[in-house]
Order: sequence, then structure tokens, then C-alpha cells
Amino acid sequence: MPAGGFSVSAPSGVEFEAKITPIVIISCIMAATGGLMFGYDVGISGGVTSMDDFLGKFFPEVLRKKHQDKESNYCKYDNQGLQLFTSSLYLAGLTATFFASYTTRRLGRRLTMLIAGVFFIIGVILNGAAQDLAMLIAGRILLGCGVGFANQAVPLFLSEIAPTRIRGGLNILFQLNVTIGILFASLVNYGTAKIHPWGWRLSLSLAGIPAVLLTLGALFVVDTPNSLIERGHLDEGKAVLKRIRGTDNVEPEFNEIVEASRIAQEVKHPFRNLLQRRNRPQLVIAVLLQIFQQFTGINAIMFYAPVLFNTLGFKSDASLYSAVITGAVNVLSTLVSVYSVDRVGRRMLLLEAGVQMFLSQVIIAVVLGIKVTDHSDNLSHGWAIMVVVMVCTFVSSFAWSWGPLGWLIPSETFPLETRSAGQSVTVCVNLLLFTFVIAQAFLSMLCHLKYAIFVFFSAWVLVMSVFVLFFLPETKNVPIEEMTERVWKQHWFWKRYMDDDNHHIVNGNGKINANNGASV
Ligand code: BGC
Repeated sequence: MPAGGFSVSAPSGVEFEAKITPIVIISCIMAATGGLMFGYDVGISGGVTSMDDFLGKFFPEVLRKKHQDKESNYCKYDNQGLQLFTSSLYLAGLTATFFASYTTRRLGRRLTMLIAGVFFIIGVILNGAAQDLAMLIAGRILLGCGVGFANQAVPLFLSEIAPTRIRGGLNILFQLNVTIGILFASLVNYGTAKIHPWGWRLSLSLAGIPAVLLTLGALFVVDTPNSLIERGHLDEGKAVLKRIRGTDNVEPEFNEIVEASRIAQEVKHPFRNLLQRRNRPQLVIAVLLQIFQQFTGINAIMFYAPVLFNTLGFKSDASLYSAVITGAVNVLSTLVSVYSVDRVGRRMLLLEAGVQMFLSQVIIAVVLGIKVTDHSDNLSHGWAIMVVVMVCTFVSSFAWSWGPLGWLIPSETFPLETRSAGQSVTVCVNLLLFTFVIAQAFLSMLCHLKYAIFVFFSAWVLVMSVFVLFFLPETKNVPIEEMTERVWKQHWFWKRYMDDDNHHIVNGNGKINANNGASV
């Protein structure tokens, strides 16, 4: 019996029949909690590593230095030793995502999310109870494995299970949870910083909430029809398809997934396959989107925001105001994206945001360049408010564009045969950049380039917007298993990489099979 729901009608009339069923919405909400964990981890480290109790226990050297030096305004976060503590999570995550590629393909999206949840729970316990540095780092590594597995499986799960017409909006629930996780973490840190000497333990332990939510979620959701069919469970796949689409008329979509999975089954080396010429467009786009997402400068701005709020006069509460204001803008603007991504499309959001991000960064650079020196913040109240408004303008446009779309687009553009491998590369590049470029390089650059770093980022925003204009195809309202035919083969530039007649697949012997791609 199909579940109830209301119909989604396609403008072009080519859409598969699908209702927005409660089971789809609930499954997506549960799976998306995987994003909470990533966001919480991103948001919690900075606060914890500035708590004296934490430093005194694990990094006494750093604590001594902290109280000796009078740091420049721009250099507060330039500390390589501590960055390594932060980085251990991301390094583990980027390695784990390759194992997760195997499990998402062989064991399914749902089980991979469950594995992520278990990693998270053990990691949180080790961190919260840490007695020495080894225990602390071991916990961070397990959390990183959780991030690797969750960021691999969740975006794929969401993109596959969602009806085409609202795929973008449901996928962005992942990023919405990332932003909620960041906000929640900053608020927790604000509260626990006042609890001595174990406030940091509470900060690290509260990650248990998202960890348990994801684990429970993964226990209750159904796997995606695409994954079930890919693993040979055809009947179950069809039954799930009927349930989630709220109709018995699923034959066309079912056949399309069966065909995609037939091709996928022949692939023995997904990563080698990913490197083939015909998969070049998706690979290039996935990697570039991650590079561009990080080179918007979002994380440098988020780290730097508390310093700016300091200059507003909220001396001791600067970090709270900063967290609440930028964090709330981040969450609310992500909602704008949930609503509009399937209406106005991915390209429109990215292009509009490009203008907003460029202008806000140039204004921030000019004001800071003229008004702020290393050790004095002679920014008058009026100018400081101007900068804060520009920071919010920047964060909001990031939140409805590069933030969510950096995850959405790679998860929906790869064909089934390379989807897991493609997502691994996406997660790996994201975490690699986050670790080395953002955590290590950008924060040192902020210290040396000072306000000019925002000029640097605005130049990148220009580059990425031009790229979107010419090279990023629109994927709105295109069924996920039809991307090759309806998007890549039609694109003025990328179509040259699409081999029309033959479908080459690297099989187990390293030989190349040719497929004519006929329908079953
Ligand atoms: C990015 C993170 C960033 C966050 C901000 C995510 O999509 O991957 O690097 O901190 O958005 O909301």
C-alpha cells in the first residue's frame, strides 16, 4: 500500500510519478542529522582549544605562551601546534572516506551511516573521558572516521531517495544541519567556558547528541532504491520505491535504476573508472566546487568574526554575539536555499551570491585596511557595524550558495557507477582543504596579509562566478539517473567528453568493455 502524500507535478511532463510522502521527508530529516555532527565538530574545536583548563591539561606549553604574548589582532588564531589537534579529525576523515566508498557501494548507504554513528559514539566517549593526549587524539581520529563515513553516505542517500522535483531542497537538509551544528557548538562553548575545570569535557561530550541521533536515524530509515537495486535486491528495491514515491506506478523509474545498476555492476574499479575521459566533467566539477567553496573564505571569516565583534565593544561577550549573529544568519539563509534551489536553480543561486560575496569582501577589506592596525582597533562604532553587516551579507550569500551546493551538486551529477567514488573524492578534497588550506594556511595568511586576505578571496569569488557562468550546467529538476543524457551530453563544452556510442568500463582484469547503453 503506497504511503499518503501530495502530488508533485512536473512542468515538462517528463517526470516520474512521485508524491512527497511522509516516509521520504522523515527519512531525509533523520539521515541529515549526519550533518549535525560535522557542523558540531567544525564549531567546537576553536572554543575548546582556547579554554585554559583544556590547554593546561593537554598543551601546557601553549597555555604559557598564550599568557605571555600580546598577539596581534590578526594573529590570534595562528598556532600550528594546536591546529594539528584540530587537523587530526579531518585527516582521519579524508582517509576514511575511501573505505566508506566501498561500504556505500557494497553494504549500502544506510549501513554506512550506521557505521558513522558508531564511530561517532565511541569517539565522543574517548574525548569526553580523555585522561591524556593519546586518548584525546584517538577520540578525534574516530570522530574523523565518522565524518568520513557520514559525509560520504548522507548526501548520496538524500539525493537518491528524494523525488527529483525537491531533490535539491532535501539534500540541503544536510548543510542545514551542518549550520545548526556550528551554531549549537558555539553556544555550548560559550556556556562551558565558564565551568571550571571540566567545561571542555562537556563541550566534547555533548557531541553525543548528534552522534546518537544519527545512529538511531540510520537504524530506522530504509535504504535507497538505487542502492538496493545496485546490490541486486531488485524486489526490495521496487517495494521501497513504491513506498517512498507513494504510488504503484514506479515502472519507468525502476527500469531506469535497473539500467544504471547494470552498468554499475560491470565496474570493478570505480576509482579507475572515475579517471576515464567520459567521467572527466563530473570529476572536474566536483573537485572545483570544493576548492571554490573553501576559497570563498567562509572559514577565515567565521574564525575572524569574534575579533570583529570585539571591536564593537562587546568585550567579554564578543564571541557569543559573533556566534549567535553569524551562526543564525548561516542557519536562516540555508533555509532560503532549501526553498529556492529547486525553483530558481543552482546556477542562479551561485551567480547571485557571487555578486553579494564579492562586494561584501571588497568593502570589508577597504574598511579594515583604512581603520584597523595590528594592535589597536580604532574602528568607530559606525564602521564596526558596517563591517558586521558586510560579514552577515557575506555569510548569508555563502549559506544559500556555495555552502549547500558544494555538497548537493557532486552528489547528484555522477552516474550510479561512479557515484560513491565521486563522493569520496568530494569529501576528501573538502577535508583536505579544510585541514591544510584553511586551518593551516589561511589563518597564517590572515596574520601576514591582514585585511588584504579579503581582496584575495574576492578575486577567487570572481573566478568561481565566471566558471559557473560558462561551465556549470543546471541540474535542477533532472532525474538523477538521467544526468548524462540530459545534462552532460547537452552542454556546449562538456559534451565533447561524452562518448556517444560506447560506454567504456574498466572491468576486473583491467580490460575495457564496451557497452552500447541499450535499455533493458
Ligand atoms: C563547509 C564548511 C563550512 C560550513 C559553514 C560547509 O559546507 O564545508 O567548511 O564551515 O559550510 O556553514
